[in-house]
Amino acid sequence: MKNLKNALLLKQLFQLKQLGYQYTDITPFKEDDLDLSLPGTLDLLQKQANQCHLCDLSKTRQKVVFGEGNPSAEIMFVGEAPGASEDSTGKPFVGRSGELLTKMIENVLLVSRNDVYITNIVKCRPPGNREPTPSEAYTCKPYLLKQIELIKPKLIVALGGTAYFYLTGDETSIGKVRGSIFKKEHYTVIPTYHPSYLLRNPSAKKDTFEDLLKVKSLMA
Ligand code: URA
Repeated sequence: MKNLKNALLLKQLFQLKQLGYQYTDITPFKEDDLDLSLPGTLDLLQKQANQCHLCDLSKTRQKVVFGEGNPSAEIMFVGEAPGASEDSTGKPFVGRSGELLTKMIENVLLVSRNDVYITNIVKCRPPGNREPTPSEAYTCKPYLLKQIELIKPKLIVALGGTAYFYLTGDETSIGKVRGSIFKKEHYTVIPTYHPSYLLRNPSAKKDTFEDLLKVKSLMA
């Protein structure tokens, strides 16, 4: 699977960079030695993610937070990374920001939280809730891309700048880009503020309310 192959290659290049290499002609791995395919069902994909040790976050996590919700959801929400409550329960967005996200889904989109699918850019908690490193995010991205391929959401709501950047590659700040529609080849993204940001900056809630009304208007 090309994405997983690229992720492994990138991980090994980051490791070589950390060791001080600026150039390398090392062949990082022999492709034929590895089974690089990701499973074709969400259940099997989750089983594989639960055993993942591709990056250092696996050393400090308690549980892998794969994602949860409707496997054929029209709307997918993607956050940044699990926090402490998510790490201990294995479920995404169950802490304070999760409570706010649930209210946003149920009060604005008028659907149950179980009707959408919720996941993160990285599936394991970064220690101290720091932002995932590029190496961690790109290493984990094949799981997210496979989730998107299997669920086929009509819209992906990127929660915050980190989720937006890793879904689109666009570095525009979340304050400027929120509420706009970004089309990638296989999916469409609408960015809005992360619930944790809204907890710290309640005056921005009205902007997210508008963004979600737009999401609602695009739902079938
Ligand atoms: N913040 C996130 O980005 N994701 C979670 O699952 C919880 C908090």
